[in-house]
Amino acid sequence: MFKTQNLTLRAWRDIDIKSFRNMMQDLEVMEFIPQEYMICGDAASNIKLFNEHLNQFGYTIFACELKESGEFVGCAGALQRSVDEQNTIKETIISFYMSRAYWGLGLAIEAIQKCFEIIFQDSCIDSVVGYTSTLNLRSQKVMQKLGMKKVQNITLLHPKLPPDHRLAPHVKYCISRGEYRINLLELHQPL
Ligand SMILES: CC(C)(COP(=O)(O)OP(=O)(O)OC[C@H]1O[C@@H](n2cnc3c(N)ncnc32)[C@H](O)[C@@H]1OP(=O)(O)O)[C@@H](O)C(=O)NCCC(=O)NCCS
Repeated sequence: MFKTQNLTLRAWRDIDIKSFRNMMQDLEVMEFIPQEYMICGDAASNIKLFNEHLNQFGYTIFACELKESGEFVGCAGALQRSVDEQNTIKETIISFYMSRAYWGLGLAIEAIQKCFEIIFQDSCIDSVVGYTSTLNLRSQKVMQKLGMKKVQNITLLHPKLPPDHRLAPHVKYCISRGEYRINLLELHQPL
């Protein structure tokens, strides 16, 4: 379990299934998310996978709740995923989803910053990446505010979508361990 200013990032419980499912069925939350993004079918299977990942790697896509009230607000974190068919190239990929009522509060940024801290301080992972639809400007803004840089000169099409699907074109953002450290130092520079 990890704490930020406003959030608790924790392992998933069975009681979260309903809130998670409701969030992922909200059309506004899912506006730019291809259905194929759901990692393995239903909410319960995803939650199981997230907790297994936490046990194995020490981080995951966490359930996020408000520290004060314990209310479920969304999920954020990262998973190690294979990005090629041969399962040889692995990337640490961030994800963040907030229930609609909690947008505009900077909670996703707060949660992912904590995940960067966990990943870059406690593991030997060199970089963390994020993918999103070119249309998902809110998500891109979040990644920019996290100090991630857009990987230029690559055209990405979602592998599970037809190329002419409106959500097929994707952008990739990346932050290296070195960039993360420089950002931290800059944050703590005396004025
Ligand atoms: C992405 C998401 C988690 C961000 O939620 P949040 O933490 O509340 O983020 P905020 O609403 O504070 O917005 C972050 C920034 O984006 C900006 N923003 C909001 N809507 C925007 C838009 N349509 N275009 C460009 N920027 C936008 C905000 O102004 C804010 O920047 P600022 O702090 O400089 O003003 C939330 O919108 C969400 O759950 N979306 C649906 C799921 C999703 O798309 N997840 C990403 C998967 S890759």
